[in-house]
Amino acid sequence: MIADQVSLAYLFGACGIILTTYYLVQQLTIRHKASKEASRTPGKSSHRTDPNAPPPKPTPIYLTPEQVKNRDDRPWRPFRWPYHQTMSIFKLDINHWLDMDKYYYEYIKEKERVYHSYGPDNINWLPGSEDACLELMEMVKEHMLLRYPLLFTSEDNGIHVKNEITGETLDFSEPLKLDPLIYVSKMAKEDFYIVKKDDEGVHRLVAAAVPFPGGSFGIKFKLGKTLDVIHGHVPYYTTKLRPSMERWFGRMQPADLIERASWYISWDHKLLLNNVYALQAGDKVPSDVEPTDFNVRVERQTLRRLPKSKAIIFTNHPIFYSIEEMKDEPLVPSLIRKIIYEAPEGIIHYKNFESFRDHILPYLDSLVGRQVENGLIKRETPIRTLPSYPFAYFVNDSNEEKGWTNPSHPVDYRSKLQDEIKKGISMEEETFQRVSATAA
Ligand code: HEM
Repeated sequence: MIADQVSLAYLFGACGIILTTYYLVQQLTIRHKASKEASRTPGKSSHRTDPNAPPPKPTPIYLTPEQVKNRDDRPWRPFRWPYHQTMSIFKLDINHWLDMDKYYYEYIKEKERVYHSYGPDNINWLPGSEDACLELMEMVKEHMLLRYPLLFTSEDNGIHVKNEITGETLDFSEPLKLDPLIYVSKMAKEDFYIVKKDDEGVHRLVAAAVPFPGGSFGIKFKLGKTLDVIHGHVPYYTTKLRPSMERWFGRMQPADLIERASWYISWDHKLLLNNVYALQAGDKVPSDVEPTDFNVRVERQTLRRLPKSKAIIFTNHPIFYSIEEMKDEPLVPSLIRKIIYEAPEGIIHYKNFESFRDHILPYLDSLVGRQVENGLIKRETPIRTLPSYPFAYFVNDSNEEKGWTNPSHPVDYRSKLQDEIKKGISMEEETFQRVSATAA
């Protein structure tokens, strides 16, 4: 009897070892494949560079304004399962610090509108951040001139720079005619946050050019606040994120560049404020919204340190992918369905998944069924992070010159974006008044 129990224990032990080894090998293969497939980016970033190493310089890509009009950038699919709140960062190739795609013109024009409508609410700085704002402006200018020589041109060594896409010539002669953050916003479609350490060694947001906060409306309420306060209602921030973030910032050098991507879902493409975050507590998506109108808004973010002022620059760039355009990408509908129902409770609440998930469930079910029928997945295929994470499977089938247009469902949301912005202005104003009243 005892002998039986011992051999049984051995048998279980052996099975355990075999299963664990199999799991580990599988995980390693997946990670290896993922970092190979996501060619121009990822690879978990753990190494730090020499503190005195200069930041890397971008290599030129000779895109013309005409080519930009048709260009899609890297196809982000940052869905993870299991879903834990972690930093999820990747080493950033400097060439992708400030990306270029067919939405560039509309994004720059929307920045202008937001600035003219809300002014310093979204683009502002505090005394003491002037050095960092100027250094950032110079860095963005140099990046654009080097990386996109046909899109940003100068005949006098950068004193005047023509943006060949918007047609505007920026005058950088001194004294500057505009706030440095306005120059930055006229060159790059990304949002910029500038963070400095105060005298007590605490990280504070000291300047921001953030016309596209999406949900966290009114960046003016965050200026001067510490990162801990800003992330106050981010789920699991104190336990999971803060320790790794502070460790990273403590060692981050100007040559260490990283990127990450987070996401949420809404039924529009607006940049300043999305429908899902304009809802009041307990509200649901209007019943007449078509499930095919739902998009994943990916927030592509980067982090780097300025060499002189030592300020941290955090960029955020929203880009939308409709669920419809991803419907034939194996496991994507299954992953979205699983995450909106089974992610940690804090995340479900923060991203307001409850406001729409029952509305799109039948649609997601039908997409999963379609994938099974078409042989893209099996009913029993385990749901887990894509092998090509954080990108779509087709990331490796294209390159920077050609761009990454979805091969089966190409999308262009430019005209929808403009239309939705026009129709959304009253919602935007109402929400802003509400948020201001709460914050005051
Ligand atoms: C260093 C400069 C940073 C700034 C200025 C910043 C700013 C912000 C802001 C304004 C929000 C929205 C908060 C709200 O709900 O009102 C946010 C959310 C968030 N931040 Fe940061 N952040 C920074 C760095 C980071 C880093 C390094 C990480 C992690 C690696 C991070 C992770 C998050 C997460 C997880 C959220 C919740 C939204 C999401 O799922 O992405 N942040 N951040």
